[in-house]
Amino acid sequence: MKKALYPGTFDPLTLGHVDLIERSSGIFDGLILAIAVDTPKKTLFSVDERVSMAREVVAELSLKNVEVCSFKGLLIDFAQKRGTSLLIRGLRAYSDFEYEFQLALTNRKMAPDVETLFMMPKEVHSYVTSSMVREISRLGGDPAEFVPGPVLRALRRRFRAAGHGVRGRHAR
Ligand code: COA
Repeated sequence: MKKALYPGTFDPLTLGHVDLIERSSGIFDGLILAIAVDTPKKTLFSVDERVSMAREVVAELSLKNVEVCSFKGLLIDFAQKRGTSLLIRGLRAYSDFEYEFQLALTNRKMAPDVETLFMMPKEVHSYVTSSMVREISRLGGDPAEFVPGPVLRALRRRFRAAGHGVRGRHAR
């Protein structure tokens, strides 16, 4: 099986994303986790921070065939540059469908050879979103159930520095 590319903003990476990374890295020879610089979202973490958290997560899981990098510009151009035409996206609930449909078809219109493959994360992660994780952390809650260790530590540092504690049994 060939190499696939899993793009996203990953602000921050959640356990739902991690589930898809593990699943797809088990299916394909290689997986590129591609973290977007150009996103319409106002991000909490810089792209370098998002890349470094994701690299820590991948290293902790010993996923040897997963490469983490950032990309600028259009996703289809980056995919072409990296020699892959297979994009992975997560589909969690019906509410994801319209946005994912638009994204996949727009990419296909611009690059007909680029295929988007949808995967479903475990049900337990089907409701988790990065915005929820940011909101919980900002308001002093404990996002430990939703994010991997390196992300939890980064959230704790970020919100402690801003004067808000991230609470919970994992917070130190
Ligand atoms: N588990 C948990 N959450 C998931 C998930 C999963 N498996 N799959 C998606 N999500 C959630 C995320 O938490 C995130 O939540 P948020 O909106 O609350 O932050 C949301 O669904 C999607 O975020 P993410 O998975 O990070 O992807 P994205 O939709 O931000 O990615 C890009 C968009 C980067 C792929 C797109 O903007 C892009 O391609 N940019 C490059 C420029 C370009 O080519 N633009 C033209 C595209 S037509």
